[in-house]
Amino acid sequence: MEAFVCRSYEELSRKAAFAVANVLNTKPNAVLGMATGSTPLGLYQELVRMHEEESLDFSQVTTFNLDEYVGLPVTHDQSYHYFMHENFFKKVNIPNSNIHIPSGTTSNYQAFCQWYEQRIKECGGIDVQILGIGSDGHIAFNEPTSSLASRTRLKTLAQQTINDNARFFDKAEDVPIYGITMGVGTILEARKLVLVANGENKADAIAKAIEGPVTSMITASALQLHPDVDIFIDEAAASRLQMRDYYTWIQAKKPGAPQL
Ligand code: PGA
Repeated sequence: MEAFVCRSYEELSRKAAFAVANVLNTKPNAVLGMATGSTPLGLYQELVRMHEEESLDFSQVTTFNLDEYVGLPVTHDQSYHYFMHENFFKKVNIPNSNIHIPSGTTSNYQAFCQWYEQRIKECGGIDVQILGIGSDGHIAFNEPTSSLASRTRLKTLAQQTINDNARFFDKAEDVPIYGITMGVGTILEARKLVLVANGENKADAIAKAIEGPVTSMITASALQLHPDVDIFIDEAAASRLQMRDYYTWIQAKKPGAPQL
């Protein structure tokens, strides 16, 4: 796990986008794991900029989104289908048939979840998974006490997540109570993980995820078990890290490190 403490949201977004683009540059038909939420917006804007100005090509890319609200039609402006289309898919050249987002309106969730897992495997697995983190330490909708071996399934959202997401809805009662989400086990199978977080309200979750014990109470702490994780955070999100100076020291000393 590597933590990159950045001076601003713009810088962390740029660096995270660069990490994703690097995967695409070495593997043009990469499978990308996508995340929603306000944090990855800057990363998506930067990928779109690279597409427009630097010919970053998505024509062979396949995508799998982490999660979706249960019960919102894809046309609802708070559905993750809508979010992804508006903020990313309509701005790059990923073929529609290569885009996968969990269904929040299927008539058979169990069958859908099994199909989603199967489809990830058929596509060769996820090369790089983008992640945000909830203020309760969740990744995707894997709320506290989710099994660290969990697969794609339905989850009941925690009150904290409902409160955090209420800002996007007219009323807190409009926030869906259930989500369909990749499991922690599904996420850990991606070859590379890129997590972005900014702001003071993420500082506690980030400290626990990076430096706390591995626990289902903070599902992001399971990333400690993964061999290739890049975490891009701003100063505010880094403010409760005990080893913060060490992470900056590692980056400063990189140029002199023995070549692999
Ligand atoms: P946010 O959501 O980026 O809107 O803070 C993150 C998450 O819940 O994963």
